[in-house]
Amino acid sequence: MSPKSPSVGLSPLSDLDDIIIDDTLKDRDLKEWINKEEEINSKTLRLLKKRVNTLANSREFQWMDIGCGDGRCLSVLQMFLKANKKSKLKRIHYLGVDKSKENIEKAEECSSNFSVDAKFLESDAKEINYISRFDIISAILFLHEVDAIFLPNILWNLLNALNEKGSLLISDFNNPYEQEKEIIIWSYKEIISIVEDLGGLVERFEILESMDVPNLWFYNLCIRRYKLNPERLDNFLDNYAEMLKNKMYKLGDERASLETALNARMCDILGKQIPSKKLSKTDRRLLKDNLSLEDRIAYRRKLLIQDQINTLLNKTRKMDKYLAVKNLRSNKSNMDNDFYREILDIISRDEYYSIIQSK
Ligand SMILES: C[S@@+](CC[C@H](N)C(=O)[O-])C[C@H]1O[C@@H](n2cnc3c(N)ncnc32)[C@H](O)[C@@H]1O
Repeated sequence: MSPKSPSVGLSPLSDLDDIIIDDTLKDRDLKEWINKEEEINSKTLRLLKKRVNTLANSREFQWMDIGCGDGRCLSVLQMFLKANKKSKLKRIHYLGVDKSKENIEKAEECSSNFSVDAKFLESDAKEINYISRFDIISAILFLHEVDAIFLPNILWNLLNALNEKGSLLISDFNNPYEQEKEIIIWSYKEIISIVEDLGGLVERFEILESMDVPNLWFYNLCIRRYKLNPERLDNFLDNYAEMLKNKMYKLGDERASLETALNARMCDILGKQIPSKKLSKTDRRLLKDNLSLEDRIAYRRKLLIQDQINTLLNKTRKMDKYLAVKNLRSNKSNMDNDFYREILDIISRDEYYSIIQSK
């Protein structure tokens, strides 16, 4: 029996947005209070710069930039070309891939300012199908944006697109930070574990702390293909729904401990238990005046974690449905009543009959 889903109900903390997310916190929006470009560039492009430099003596190399966005990584290429005017390097083939048409257009425009040989492809990473082609694949601030259901397929496609000596360079946030919503943050440990199960080899990794955002960490990974075969992906997908659920339960625990600590802080400030009904005006005022910046950041983090839990809940339901349908197709005659009832919880009766009939 799987554990119960983390609750998505109300808590005494649930109506405090207006008190807690006040101007102080809004001012902390990354674009306002740190030099975002500088920090993100310096951390997330570090391994990429190093790797590109090691290719300076090659005659040519192939680079795919997956989730290229507006073409930020092209600046690495530009810098590299300037520094290596006299190198033996003859050609760099850069391919920027993004599912957003708008971003592809921006990246194309950006590349026209640079003297680089760049091509672009509007495509979802789950659809790409290159085999042993690239010396470098960069996936910078990309994985947290992909649909969690397709993360293994996408990582597999990227590994499959690497040539024997190629490197997949991944850089991302290691934990939720205050400003992002509707995304899933994967820690470096989770990504390493998936990549290794799929048949990649992690050659190098680094963890870098943000200079300005408390408790924010970035990671950089350099990965090669190792023992890649499609069965590994199939086997992995069989257990993936469970993995997503476990991630969701872990986030539920994290949210619960943040909530306990925040509740305790609020009890301290109010000098009493937090009322289960709506807070009075006086209590709200007291909290507004006394909650520290750290408390507010913790509250915001709790909201972000809740958002990820909701997203994962949605994804795991879809995965369950997929697995149920797969089972139905292969195992119809052994179905017992409980299983049948569970299926009907997930899919509608009409869907059920259409599956049975299509068999
Ligand atoms: C945060 S941006 C990062 C852009 C760039 N790599 C950078 O570091 O500045 C993430 C990009 O990934 C793209 N993206 C998200 N999911 C994708 C998918 N499944 N396939 C292709 N691109 C995707 C988004 O459209 C967006 O442009």
